[in-house]
Amino acid sequence: MAIGTPLTKFLLEEQRRYPESTGNFTSLFSDLVLAAKIISREVNRAGLIDILGSTGSQNVQGEEVQKLDELANEMLIKTMEHGGHLSGMASEEMEEIVKVDGRFPRGSYLLLFDPLDGSSNIDVNISVGTIFSILKCPSAETTTKDFLQPGTRQVCAGYILYGSSTMLVYTTGHGVHGFTLDPSVGEFLLSHEDIRIPDKGKTYSINEGNSKHWFPATSMYIEKLKASEKGCSARYVGSLVADFHRNLLKGGIFLYPADKKSKNGKLRLLYEANPLSFIVEQAGGKSSTGDKRILEIVPEELHQRTPLIIGSKADVEEAESFWKYQEA
Ligand code: AHG
Ligand code: MN
Ligand code: MN
Repeated sequence: MAIGTPLTKFLLEEQRRYPESTGNFTSLFSDLVLAAKIISREVNRAGLIDILGSTGSQNVQGEEVQKLDELANEMLIKTMEHGGHLSGMASEEMEEIVKVDGRFPRGSYLLLFDPLDGSSNIDVNISVGTIFSILKCPSAETTTKDFLQPGTRQVCAGYILYGSSTMLVYTTGHGVHGFTLDPSVGEFLLSHEDIRIPDKGKTYSINEGNSKHWFPATSMYIEKLKASEKGCSARYVGSLVADFHRNLLKGGIFLYPADKKSKNGKLRLLYEANPLSFIVEQAGGKSSTGDKRILEIVPEELHQRTPLIIGSKADVEEAESFWKYQEA
């Protein structure tokens, strides 16, 4: 489709390709896009109005201020709960799931999200984002167990990056598409159709401050990268979504491995690793714990953490060879 095509038109065209589609998903996605636009506005205004700071403090008008990640969480729940398309939601910011029942019609999808990824970067005007994953609800009730599905079952995954522009990148299993928000018309316009991640990159992203805790496989792999003839660059913003996005477009590898301090890594399987893994695979890349495919992990709990090695296919495969060596 032509560059500049509005997202709404793009979604309708996609829907028409599947005659069995009821339009429910398209409508759910439109609600999500609305929430994204509202969060984008709030993120953009964060430097101007005093909504930063910790919960409970007051802004210059003497009003209670709310942290932006809590605001984003609330915005998503409020925007999504009455659409009639969801049966439940789970968020990185909430201990328990939110059931959509009683007050609003119940739908068949589950929405899982990290409302604001990279939240420590808000105060310093560095890109942050919202990551989401959509599943079908397998039961007539909505229980926590319904959310514990492997990433291969995702029907859609994506993120909104609040950067120098706001971008939405998503997949429904038919390639990865990127849209850039035109703030003057309030529409996401197609800017990156069918994104393919380069098979090999020149960039690695890892928190080297953790190197004293690393297992040998991590240390050896990073040393190997640094020693390579062609050379490589380190890039680590500290917002997964921003580091991932750069590597998706330019090629490269992101690692948040297990180490001696964090036996399961840091990142969350359901809200971070699974959605980005679905995207990277759809773009021709790869994602792994070091020894298994992220998307095949059967989750045991909602807020489960996982080691994550994700990016260009050849780079992730090379990293995996070091993990194999470690186990041998
Ligand atoms: P969140 O802001 O949603 O809690 O996620 C932060 C994550 C991720 O965005 C980033 O890659 C990672 O934490 C950075 O962690 P370190 O500071 O330990 O490197
Ligand atoms: Mn996060
Ligand atoms: Mn978060």
